[in-house]
Amino acid sequence: MRINDTADYHRYDLRSLGWELTMSNALSSPASPCRRLLKKDDSYGVHLYAFLDRRLSCERFSHVVEIGGGYGYLMRDFIALRPSLKVTMVDISPRLLDRQREALRGYDVRFVEGDFLETDPGILAGADLVIMNENLGDFPTLLDLTYEDMAGDGNGAAEAVRRARDLIRRYRLDYPSEGTFAFNLGAAQAVEKVCSAAVPVVFICEHSCEAKVPEDLRRLINLPSPGLPERICLKGHDEYTLKFSHLEKIARFYAYGVFRGPLADILTPRLDGRLKALWTVGANLSDEGELLRFFAEDLYRYEYLLLVGGGIKGGETEIPKG
Ligand SMILES: C[S@@+](CC[C@H](N)C(=O)[O-])C[C@H]1O[C@@H](n2cnc3c(N)ncnc32)[C@H](O)[C@@H]1O
Repeated sequence: MRINDTADYHRYDLRSLGWELTMSNALSSPASPCRRLLKKDDSYGVHLYAFLDRRLSCERFSHVVEIGGGYGYLMRDFIALRPSLKVTMVDISPRLLDRQREALRGYDVRFVEGDFLETDPGILAGADLVIMNENLGDFPTLLDLTYEDMAGDGNGAAEAVRRARDLIRRYRLDYPSEGTFAFNLGAAQAVEKVCSAAVPVVFICEHSCEAKVPEDLRRLINLPSPGLPERICLKGHDEYTLKFSHLEKIARFYAYGVFRGPLADILTPRLDGRLKALWTVGANLSDEGELLRFFAEDLYRYEYLLLVGGGIKGGETEIPKG
């Protein structure tokens, strides 16, 4: 067994997120060509706020905790829309916390430096929304696990293997009976932490290993859906795609209502000739075309989970498009 752990990279080495091109960063500039692929030309935080508002009404949110907020752009959008929001930003990276302080200067925001898995759960007290956007793939992932590792009872196993085994048993998570596999240990622990703290609403978005392209687009987009976490090689560190069905099961254990879907439910693409051409032209794209095609595919490669705790009713049963 090995562990993919990015904590030291984020604490000491990370200089910039520039090359990681998260959705939030890709849409931050009004000049971003990615915005033109969407039905509505706006930044990520504005899209997400509108999505949550349609689904649950954002009026109910007064204290938001964002974990791993990167450059702080998403929260900047939220505060612009609701200046009265009380906000806590938790991040392991001192450099990114500095960027968040810059982006959120002038607002009443609490900044907490630390690994979310190690922070006092009291940090979640009073929060009515927790956002974990594009961060759980960075949390520790166990690699090269075997069926025997999970089926065994021995206390001789490494601490991390025992933790994975406990989670797998407690939440009845599935795992392969043959070969080796990866397990999103940190993501499972983070979801367990927010759900056991009874946070009313939790939003998660990340690369999925279970992504599904809608029927009508399968002719154009061909995305792998291996069903087990896979490595994404990045500068200075690797992250892993998430097995969303595991996170969903943990949330259901704590009686959360679960809404799950592709990011395209939130960032609705304008399915016109231009986008279709990006998918059909193949290898002959310009650099910008490549970037746009990658962005457009990510709308289906990413999944979200919207977890709604007992007592809160969603306004709609279908996720509205557009
Ligand atoms: C890929 S960036 C995403 C940033 C931002 N949410 C976005 O969508 O642009 C991952 C973020 O998670 C933070 N992070 C990674 N591991 C963390 C941990 N264990 N605890 C808290 N924050 C963490 C990183 O420092 C960074 O801010």
